[in-house]
Amino acid sequence: MSRVALVTGGSRGIGAAISVALKNAGYTVAANYAGNDEAAAKFSAETGIKTYKWSVAEYDACVEGIARVEADLGPVDVLVNNAGITRDAPFHKMTREQWKEVMDTNLSGLFNMTHPLWPGMRERKFGRVISISSINGQKGQFGQANYSAAKAGDIGFTKALAQEGARSGITVNVICPGYIATEMVMAVPEKVRESIISTIPVGRLGEPEDIARCVVFLASDEAGFITGSTLTANGGQYLT
Ligand code: CAA
Repeated sequence: MSRVALVTGGSRGIGAAISVALKNAGYTVAANYAGNDEAAAKFSAETGIKTYKWSVAEYDACVEGIARVEADLGPVDVLVNNAGITRDAPFHKMTREQWKEVMDTNLSGLFNMTHPLWPGMRERKFGRVISISSINGQKGQFGQANYSAAKAGDIGFTKALAQEGARSGITVNVICPGYIATEMVMAVPEKVRESIISTIPVGRLGEPEDIARCVVFLASDEAGFITGSTLTANGGQYLT
């Protein structure tokens, strides 16, 4: 029986590449998404990966959504917390709404998804929790006080939970992508984006597959000794 992997925000951008890479590695994959029905339907038709709609920002919706996935596919062995949003603004212009939306999805989303799955992983003595943070959670970014705070929180969450999961065969790791060629990064004004690319030593944006490969590795049995780690994939833009 193949293992079941659940990828949040799994039908677009980095998440879509992760869903496909896990499927190609032999997992049964469920891709969660929050809003874009059209993109999800297209993704499902192209890949054969089932998609499930709910918002990771709402705990009850996560409980209900996970129950649907597990009824269809069986217990979730691998959780990839990938769903994330930006609401960029310089702090003096940032609204409480922009702060809250980003915190609810990018930080509380990890609690909302991991908490319902945790007891099952503990019981079965196996689990992989892999969260997608960001270079901007490590170094901070002008215009992203909300996003950088949430993404830094994802790293702390990982380090704490890794210690709790270890004795139950659950590894908890976080990946910090740099700037990857997705819609999110393409939404940054072109001049700003060009100046960012000029600071990336490899001289280009990353590809979603660069991150997907990291996920496949961390999900594997061979990565069982790696927990609580922060895996940086940013083309050398920020060295920790
Ligand atoms: N450092 C210092 N000053 C900066 C700056 C920077 N990085 N960026 C902008 N400024 C300055 C501007 O030069 C401007 O100064 P002046 O008024 O003196 O000209 C001032 O800040 C205000 O700038 P804007 O008029 O552009 O302000 P705005 O409200 O229109 O937009 C912004 C600000 C939304 C933050 C815009 O600059 C922006 O989108 N920046 C990119 C933020 C970014 O990198 N987001 C990452 C998105 S991708 C992602 O998040 C994925 C991931 O994980 C990597």
